[in-house]
Amino acid sequence: MPAKKRQNYCAQVFEAVDHIRKSLAAYKINRVELSILLGSGLGDFADTLQARRSISFSSIPHFPSPSVAGHSGRLVFGETEAVPICCLQGRVHYYEGHDMRAVTFPVRVLGALGIKRLIVTNAAGGLHSNWKAGDLMLIRDHVSLFMPNPLLGPNLHMFGPRFPDMSECYSKTLRQLAVKCARKIRLKLRQGIYAAVSGPSYETPAEIKMLRKMGADAVGMSTVPEAIVARHMGMECLGISIITNLAAGISRSRLSHQEVLETAQRIKPKLTKFLNSLFHEISRLT
Ligand code: HPA
Repeated sequence: MPAKKRQNYCAQVFEAVDHIRKSLAAYKINRVELSILLGSGLGDFADTLQARRSISFSSIPHFPSPSVAGHSGRLVFGETEAVPICCLQGRVHYYEGHDMRAVTFPVRVLGALGIKRLIVTNAAGGLHSNWKAGDLMLIRDHVSLFMPNPLLGPNLHMFGPRFPDMSECYSKTLRQLAVKCARKIRLKLRQGIYAAVSGPSYETPAEIKMLRKMGADAVGMSTVPEAIVARHMGMECLGISIITNLAAGISRSRLSHQEVLETAQRIKPKLTKFLNSLFHEISRLT
């Protein structure tokens, strides 16, 4: 990316930030502690917040708008368990034809707004035959060798370092809290490695066998670019996968986006309870 284009990108991030700050001032919201990115079919969580205020992605300068069913495209501010949070209700994916800078633009904006923590959720295929659609998996780490790294190109020094460390991409502190919350509400929480692929075609059974050999437990088409950019900006990150189906070759049936959305819909009450408990615990951290 030439220097001018890089400057433009940073300027675009700050234009979006200014726009959001003005809306927040008009809504009298002066504190946002946490952000959550809601993946395929999970956007409804934002509708459970109290004192909700939303801004559509299309009204924010330079913000990319999702084109996929199950992703609505709004930034929703509100409270849960008295914790002020911000939800990205929808995301754009690399497979939609956006470049990685566009895919991660919303996270850049959250980071530049000064939000220190990001929870990333997604729908994913499970790589174990004894897992079930509807299980939740805490992401311990990821494998991402099939999509470009979002930090490729000249480094955006104002946001973070050239070579950010990824040895703890998903915060240990936040993961421990997530495990504690799951126990408290008697939720079975699996843990594992998320493999990111570009999509949009689902994987072949041979690819799934390869991912399994690489140590992956779940596969999906998102999350990693956003997590890398969040870490680049020094945000603390937590990842949660909803296992919406078993992966190709493990599942006996053919994969469909409809099944992904239906499973996401079905686990909504369980996920909402878990997230509320998690927000409450996280807000007690300093
Ligand atoms: N593969 C990739 N992405 C997914 C899947 C899958 O099986 N399920 C939901 N998102």
